[in-house]
Amino acid sequence: MKKYLIINGPNLNLLGSRNPEIYGKENLQDIEKWLNVKINNKDINIYWYQTNHEGKIIDRIQRASNEKMNGIILNAGALTHYSYAIRDAISAFKLPVVEVHLSNINKREKFRSISVIKDVCIKQISGLGKNSYLEGFKILESL
Ligand code: DQA
Repeated sequence: MKKYLIINGPNLNLLGSRNPEIYGKENLQDIEKWLNVKINNKDINIYWYQTNHEGKIIDRIQRASNEKMNGIILNAGALTHYSYAIRDAISAFKLPVVEVHLSNINKREKFRSISVIKDVCIKQISGLGKNSYLEGFKILESL
């Protein structure tokens, strides 16, 4: 049984109603259901976690290491652009982390094109909408 963790950070609980022209009309639960259908594998468990709090993301990353997760797909929201604490948490473990974004962070405001976690993640995927999560999963599965 393989276990993957998907962490969504600040404001991603608002998906569906938040700037739908940028992030789409589906909420996190819709994306979770969609991804389960796409993956369709009883030997793979996907755990979803959402929080608006930086420290809780760090706690969850630390816990994932003890839980022997096979990898993490992380959409850290705006924390992507400035959280050295999340960066440190990722680099403290060997657990592979893929950074994902629904929108293309390189084609929006300048501050979004900077990711302080990019270097400690195995890959950055951005701009594919919900497919960013699927691509992140495929990368972890291919390791
Ligand atoms: C985001 C992009 C971030 O810049 C933004 O702050 C988010 C969502 C994305 O999924 O496109 O909250 O991570």
